[in-house]
Amino acid sequence: PGRPTYKIASIPADGIGPEVISAGIQVLETLTKELDTFGLEFGHLDWGSAYYRKNGQYLPDNALDILKGYNAILFGAVGDPEIPDHISLWGLRLAICQPLQQYANVRPTRILRGTSSPLRSCSRRDLDWVIVRENSEGEYAGHGGTSHLNEAWSVATEVSIFTRHGVERIMRFAFETARSRPRKRLTVVTKSNAQRNGMVFWDLCASKIAAEFPDVEWDKMLVDAMTTRMVLHPETIDTVVATNLHADILSDLAAALAGSIGIAPTSNLDPTRANPSMFEPIHGSAFDITGKGVANPVGTFWSSAEMLRWLGQGEAADLLMESVENVLEGGVKTLDLGGKNTTKEVTDKVCGEIERLI
Ligand code: NAI
Ligand code: MG
Repeated sequence: PGRPTYKIASIPADGIGPEVISAGIQVLETLTKELDTFGLEFGHLDWGSAYYRKNGQYLPDNALDILKGYNAILFGAVGDPEIPDHISLWGLRLAICQPLQQYANVRPTRILRGTSSPLRSCSRRDLDWVIVRENSEGEYAGHGGTSHLNEAWSVATEVSIFTRHGVERIMRFAFETARSRPRKRLTVVTKSNAQRNGMVFWDLCASKIAAEFPDVEWDKMLVDAMTTRMVLHPETIDTVVATNLHADILSDLAAALAGSIGIAPTSNLDPTRANPSMFEPIHGSAFDITGKGVANPVGTFWSSAEMLRWLGQGEAADLLMESVENVLEGGVKTLDLGGKNTTKEVTDKVCGEIERLI
């Protein structure tokens, strides 16, 4: 078979986004050059808050057509101190995820070699999770409204949407994810005591889909209790599925428990593969460290590895992660991990390690 080449859309966007994405591209280019088994062709898209200031919108009108010409999207972060967060988030990130049907947001969490958990007695073996977040509806469906805004009687609603189509497809994806992992265990997170409509429906759909996966052991957990289980009994957790809002919060907690928000990756997947999927570090644009050259690029490296895995290049993904962990174990790391190295030093070191391993 020929040597495949994948087209990657790069959207660095705001804040530390450009710093970590250029680090990611440097590492990916080193990897493909050394391996010489597949190619990556990057398209550089300048969408973000600067583009918005100039054009009044975050994306050009034909953005989705442009993106559909790529095999995958590598995304930095969006958010600007002078633009309200709901404008930037809906203007760029959600404007891509929702129409491209990237309904499964997947967040693996584990303690990388050379890093440690803030939990006193948590070993690397105790924390190895995948959180599956519903990424198309729920609390972030955008349903709701505001009336009488400047009056004493102003009112606003934020309506959660749970459809059979949406819930069943994320449940099926979560059960499949759990089945693909050694422990074959899934925790379905709900809040079906207080949220007696949408969450009770969520539980019903879970039971129905569970019947298709008799080999997966599953349990249900209320989201508030789930936070304490993550902290006190991390070893009892494997794969988790939760709504858009609940999983958003749980996965930030997961990232912190695994060491730092700077290392955690996210995949926004269209599991049907009709559209390109999008890969990004979970952190935001981090205004407080922008331009200082100290942003941790590991979240982007790990996201890049997940992207390669999704494209069918699992061996390259493993090699990339092995290089990253070797470098961290060697003590080269950024401030947020208790190290003293810059973005560039970590990136160069990872490239050197890739060259050494291959
Ligand atoms: P944030 O993730 O940008 O920063 C939180 C804290 O973590 C800051 O102290 C920051 O310095 C640190 N941090 C984050 N990434 C790091 C890295 N790679 N290396 C070292 N330290 C790192 O979250 P925050 O402050 O709540 O949001 C800032 C902006 O980012 C907002 O406009 C927000 O809307 C946006 N945001 C965008 C996201 C996205 O594009 N997917 C996700 C989260 C936030
Ligand atoms: Mg978040």
